[in-house]
Amino acid sequence: DEGISTFVLMDNNVRGILPVRRLKGHKGTHGKGILVAGSKGMSGASVLAGRGALRSGIGLLQIVCPQGIAKEVDANVTEATVWAAPGDEVLNEEAWPVILRQAEKAQALAVGPGLAQNIDFVPVLEEILKNLSCPVLLDADALNLVALETSLLKLRNGRGPLILTPHPGEMARLCQCSVEEIESNRLDIAVSKAVEWEAVVVLKGSVTIIASPDGRAFFNPTGNPGLGTGGTGDVLTGSILAWLAQGVQALEAACLGVYLHGKAADELANEYGWSGFTASEVADQLPKVRRALE
Ligand code: APR
Ligand code: MG
Repeated sequence: DEGISTFVLMDNNVRGILPVRRLKGHKGTHGKGILVAGSKGMSGASVLAGRGALRSGIGLLQIVCPQGIAKEVDANVTEATVWAAPGDEVLNEEAWPVILRQAEKAQALAVGPGLAQNIDFVPVLEEILKNLSCPVLLDADALNLVALETSLLKLRNGRGPLILTPHPGEMARLCQCSVEEIESNRLDIAVSKAVEWEAVVVLKGSVTIIASPDGRAFFNPTGNPGLGTGGTGDVLTGSILAWLAQGVQALEAACLGVYLHGKAADELANEYGWSGFTASEVADQLPKVRRALE
């Protein structure tokens, strides 16, 4: 579309986004992020997103998950504090007070990986969108729940930045169309929805598009088919959360997160080719590719 300004992300523009670590920085200055994720049978999503955040340099990570999985999340993300919210298998509306208490002192919040689609959680999404002034990222089942009523996105109403990270299936649900329609018109749809929802829309795929609410779009050239394995999207969500917590602006945090996530996979592909590396290995590779950019 002639009306859309498009850019291709490259080392040089992404390098300029990397936050600078100060000699006297500490975990307080490196940012606190809240991750609302996981349900019975999907505790791995909280673990992987947590790993993505920690490997992207977050100062403090707090995970909110249902009490039934809190023990295993805690045991598998040693460095995070875990807050068990009421709800044995899935989070419900009683999670809001727990989230609010943590979020008041946080710089960013991400919600969605492995959440499951419990309709009782929708009021919590409403409260998050309405009340939190920090950047809010919605992924996975948070997007699937919002897709039931996309006017919920309007609740943000300029309160703070909003970032959405749908894969094509989630985007199709949000747009009430087919995956084929999304895939044949990725750029136009990503940009028009970013403008409509006043959100940074990260439309994932082999070439992820990061669309800004100001109408610009950024193509990501990094990554490879090795990323087509469960949990890599969760790692990306955690990583973007960490950049947001460190004070990177919403659009830049999304670009940085997507670019480095793909680079991490490319680094692994040097050794393994385009298959057989795992989402947790992608997370563990993030510091190395960040370092190579500095
Ligand atoms: N080339 C480059 N990148 C790719 C490729 C490819 N060929 N294939 C996939 N990717 C990247 C995407 O761009 C995205 O960053 O891998 C990631 C996959 O993310 P998701 O589709 O969200 O997958 P994931 O989150 O791991 O799936 C687990 O979460 O969203 C839900 O419905 C999803 O239940 C599923 C669960
Ligand atoms: Mg996903």
